[in-house]
Amino acid sequence: MAERMITDVLAKPDAALEMTLRPAVFADFTGQSKVKERLEITVAAARQRSEPLDHILLNGPPGLGKTTLAHILAKAMGASLKCTSGPTIEKAGDLAGLLTNLEAGDVLFVDEIHRLQKTIEEYLYPAMEDFKLDIIIDQGPNARSVRLNLPRFTLIGATTRSGLLTAPLLTRFPIRERLDYYHADDLQTIVVRSARLLAIELEPAGAREIARRSRGTPRIANNLLRRVRDYAQVRGDGRITAALADRALAMLEIDENGLDEMDKRILEAVIAKFGGGPVGVSSLAVAVGEEPDTLEEVYEPYLIMEGYLKRTSQGRVATELSYQKLGVKPAESRQRALL
Ligand SMILES: Nc1ncnc2c1ncn2[C@@H]1O[C@H](COP(=O)(O)OP(=O)(O)OP(=O)(O)O)[C@@H](O)[C@H]1O
Ligand SMILES: [Mg+2]
Repeated sequence: MAERMITDVLAKPDAALEMTLRPAVFADFTGQSKVKERLEITVAAARQRSEPLDHILLNGPPGLGKTTLAHILAKAMGASLKCTSGPTIEKAGDLAGLLTNLEAGDVLFVDEIHRLQKTIEEYLYPAMEDFKLDIIIDQGPNARSVRLNLPRFTLIGATTRSGLLTAPLLTRFPIRERLDYYHADDLQTIVVRSARLLAIELEPAGAREIARRSRGTPRIANNLLRRVRDYAQVRGDGRITAALADRALAMLEIDENGLDEMDKRILEAVIAKFGGGPVGVSSLAVAVGEEPDTLEEVYEPYLIMEGYLKRTSQGRVATELSYQKLGVKPAESRQRALL
């Protein structure tokens, strides 16, 4: 596909760059003030009692800082962090290996925890609750269950879809925090900090423009900053002004409101093909040629938050704002859908 999609702007940059820009301490973690305050108190209290942190679930759309917070939490506790992810734990033995290698106070970070297999999830319950692991050794008539004691560890789970988590798993996290899209002010602070770290010349108004069009997402803001820097270097004098940022973002097909080609295709489909809705997510996904999961995790939350789409029990419905965006009148669209 020739068009630029938010999914490529959301792509994770290489590890080295991610490390440079990723804040390592709470003080550098901008925004999400309520979540940050609660987590800082949890850390301070656990440290005072010399206890490990309770298990924490971090939930929210991609690129908002879940992995970053897991690193910050482990560091603030002086704990070491072991990282894994739901889909990479294929067998109960993989999980047993991870858990038995932990030391007291260690943090185990499980990314995409909603993609953990159900059979493996069940091993996790006693591990999280009682720090015990029941494993079956041998097969057939010799099979027997052995109970292992685990050190007191902290599980930090991250998910973009907490709705897919089973109730027993969800309730085993005493602390659950949801990250929301960032305000433009906070994103501006983040972009300015990144520009400083990457030695990019960025005027405040240029930072504002990038922040405003980054879909409330720090990862997108950082990625756009780098693309705009390229543009400034080749088409300008290297300095990012508001006007230059605007031209660069227009070239990247990111509009005034931060919507990209796929966003518009989604709104267009709801309006022109489905008469404004309601339309189910799977039909919509087929119409725009995108995975239903990506639609639900990446595109929809932002379109809904910004008031372009509404989610009803029958499906997605276009709002007045999306008609305005596409410059069509509601009645016209209904008629076109009937043809
Ligand atoms: N609050 C923040 N302040 C400054 N930079 C941030 C903040 N949150 C995220 N970032 C930047 O955005 C990048 C993406 O964040 P992170 O990898 O933590 O997102 P994530 O929620 O784990 O995403 P995914 O669901 O895709 O794994 C980080 O490398 C960091 O540079
Ligand atoms: Mg992550």
